[in-house]
Amino acid sequence: MAVILEYMRIAFVGKGGSGKTTLSALFAQYINKQYPVLALDADLNMHLGSLLGFEAELPIEQNISHPAAAKIIKTHLRGRNARIKDIVQFRKTTPPTADSNFIHLSDPQDPVLSRFGRGDGALRLLVVGSYDTEEIGASCYHNNLAILENILSHLMDDSGVVVTDMVAGVDAFANTLHAQFDLLVLTVEPTRRGLEVFEQYRKLAEEAGVYSLLFVVGNKVRADADVDFIKAHIPAEKFIGFLRESEYLRRKDQEGGALNVDLLENENKALLEKIKKKLVSIIPDPQKRLRKLYELHRRYVAQGFITERYGDLTNQIDETFTFPA
Ligand SMILES: Nc1ncnc2c1ncn2[C@@H]1O[C@H](COP(=O)(O)OP(=O)(O)O)[C@@H](O)[C@H]1O
Ligand SMILES: [Mg+2]
Repeated sequence: MAVILEYMRIAFVGKGGSGKTTLSALFAQYINKQYPVLALDADLNMHLGSLLGFEAELPIEQNISHPAAAKIIKTHLRGRNARIKDIVQFRKTTPPTADSNFIHLSDPQDPVLSRFGRGDGALRLLVVGSYDTEEIGASCYHNNLAILENILSHLMDDSGVVVTDMVAGVDAFANTLHAQFDLLVLTVEPTRRGLEVFEQYRKLAEEAGVYSLLFVVGNKVRADADVDFIKAHIPAEKFIGFLRESEYLRRKDQEGGALNVDLLENENKALLEKIKKKLVSIIPDPQKRLRKLYELHRRYVAQGFITERYGDLTNQIDETFTFPA
């Protein structure tokens, strides 16, 4: 009997300005015709919401990394998990157990999604958020990402597609984030710098053990020479396709407001179909993700500053737990 795959996680990664947010919004709308979508805005430069048509900005307390929000979310996810003695011991690598609460992305009543998300059960958005960026600087943004890691590790793989507009650069591969997806799509521009970015991400992905999940989309392609340039430098098997320089996207950028995938040029829509085909060709393996999380957790909690501050957290792992098949 054919297995029907109904749950997938995709993240758009790449350098600032390369098109992560644009592609995240377009792909979220495209795949939403078939599946419920949870859109996650983890880009430091937050505007996935406006491209998806959520007009007003959220009150800052509704951004998931706001300390009060993060605490409420962790308390919910902890549930009856006695392996987390105190909520401060709920770290970014803390794995779920049978006594944890999970997030169900297609549940209109999901407590985390309905409280902190925008939209409804069909398409929801969660925003990581960042604060005091001038003072703290982007280098500390990875701390804000911890709650996103908790949400992803406690997300039940039952129905729908997670589309993540990922933070630019190294932070995407820090901690456990890279281990939470089935497909990482790198957006590169047809420039020398674009190729350098590919090399940089290739190394990061290899080091993190997820190079097999990394694929490339060429963006802002103007001429056939651009296509040839990218094809000449990126391994063919890593290549999904191109988004051409789009008159529609240019006009929308100038006008502001939501994108509408139906108005995108047909040749650009064809790319979205290719990404979808790639995504559904991958068989998600929640158990494997969990084992990877255990490995990252053991490494994280072995660090001196963690044991000093929080004690021994290795027993947060419950090896007997498995996600329902
Ligand atoms: N294929 C395209 N054609 C025209 N403009 C594009 C295209 N892709 C992205 N853009 C524009 O490039 C700018 C950066 O895109 P964005 O998605 O915000 O990048 P990122 O999220 O990676 O920083 C935006 O003004 C966007 O409208
Ligand atoms: Mg962006």
